[in-house]
Amino acid sequence: MKAIELNVGTDSLDAFQAVDRPVPDPGPGQVRVQLHAASLNYRDLSVARGTYPGTDGDTSVVPLSDGAGVVDAVGEGVTRFEAGDRVTNTFSQVPTDAPPSADRQALGLPLDGTLQEQRVFHENGLVHVPETLSLEQAATLPCAAQTAWHTLFGAGRPVLPGQTVLTLGTGGVSTFALLFAKAAGARVLITSSSDDKLERMRALGADTTINYERTPDWHEAVQDATDGRGVDCVVETGGLGTLERSFQAAAPNGKVGLIGVLAEADENPNPYLLMQRRGHLHGIYVGDIEHPLDSFRAMNAAIDANDIEPVLDRTFDIESVPETYQHLAEAGHVGKVVVTI
Ligand SMILES: NC(=O)c1ccc[n+]([C@@H]2O[C@H](COP(=O)([O-])OP(=O)(O)OC[C@H]3O[C@@H](n4cnc5c(N)ncnc54)[C@H](OP(=O)(O)O)[C@@H]3O)[C@@H](O)[C@H]2O)c1
Repeated sequence: MKAIELNVGTDSLDAFQAVDRPVPDPGPGQVRVQLHAASLNYRDLSVARGTYPGTDGDTSVVPLSDGAGVVDAVGEGVTRFEAGDRVTNTFSQVPTDAPPSADRQALGLPLDGTLQEQRVFHENGLVHVPETLSLEQAATLPCAAQTAWHTLFGAGRPVLPGQTVLTLGTGGVSTFALLFAKAAGARVLITSSSDDKLERMRALGADTTINYERTPDWHEAVQDATDGRGVDCVVETGGLGTLERSFQAAAPNGKVGLIGVLAEADENPNPYLLMQRRGHLHGIYVGDIEHPLDSFRAMNAAIDANDIEPVLDRTFDIESVPETYQHLAEAGHVGKVVVTI
C-alpha cells in the first residue's frame, strides 16, 4: 500500500516521498481503516519545517494527524466497529505495538499519521463519522474541530445561548469555532487580515467582523461591539502576540482558551489584565484529554443535529502533497485544506 513519508529534519516543505509499505494486519482490539481523506493543520507545517517542539532532526514519519475512511478489517475482540463502517480518528493514539492502556501520542509526529492508504488503530482511537458528512468533510474533525469544540464547551464554563464568542483568524480552528458557537446560540465576533474572508464569515453567520490589520487595536472594536462588556469566550489561536488584546477583549468572568502560536511577540502579555476581569485562562491541547471519545461523539452529534458543514477550502490529491503544504503556508485559505487518498 502507498504511504507518503516526510523527512522532518530537512527544514523544507518539499521533503516528501511516496513509498510502498506492507498492508498492516489488525491485532486484537485493533481496526484497519482504508483511508479516503486526510486534512492539514497548521501544526503539520511546523512538523515539515522541523520547528515543531520535540522534533529532532533526521526523522521520517507519515505526516498528518487527521483522517477518515472505511473499516476494512477488524482484529479479535473488536466490539464497536465492523467492516464497512465509516470512521475518523482521534488526534492522539495509543501506538499500535503497545497495549491499549499505554499513553496516547500525537499522529503525524511522533506516530505515523494518516497520509497513507491503510492504517491500523486501536478501536478506542476511532469514532463513527457524523451521518451528514462525507469522508472528506469528516477528515477535518480530529484536530481543528475538536480543539474548537473543547475550547467552547469543554474547558471551564461551557458557552451558553446568548453569550458572545470571539475567534481569531479564518483558519481551521476558527471557522469551526464560528459554526459551533452559532449552533449553540451564541453571538460571534471574528477577526481576519482580509475583508474578502470576513465577508465569507458573515455569510456563515458571523455577527461582527474586524480586520485586525486595519484595526490593530481590535480589542477596542470588540469592546465597542459588545457595549463595553467584552466577550464570554476567546478562541485564542494567535498566541503571545495577541494574548494581551484577548485579555482586554474578555468580559468579566470570561474565559480565554490559549490554543495557537501564529503571532509571536517580544514582550510577555500582562496577566493582570485578565485578573482585573476575574477571567479564566485555559491551556488547550486539542480535545478532552481524559475523555477524548465522549468529547468527539458529543461534537459529532451536534454536527448531525445542526447540519453543520465544515468549511472546506480546497481538496488536493495525494500526488500533490508539496503543493498542498505550500497552499497552507501561503495562508490564503479559509477553513480546511484536504488531501484525498
Ligand atoms: N493547542 C492546540 O491543541 C491546537 C490545536 C489546533 C491548532 N492549534 C494552533 O492554532 C493555530 C491555528 O491553527 P489552524 O490549524 O486553525 O491554522 P490555519 O488553518 O493555518 O489558520 C491560520 C489563520 O490564522 C490567521 N492568523 C494568522 N496570523 C494571525 C494573527 N497574528 N492574528 C490573528 N489571526 C492570525 C490567518 O487568518 P486570516 O487570513 O483570516 O487573517 C490564517 O489564515 C495555530 O497556531 C495552531 O498551531 C493549536
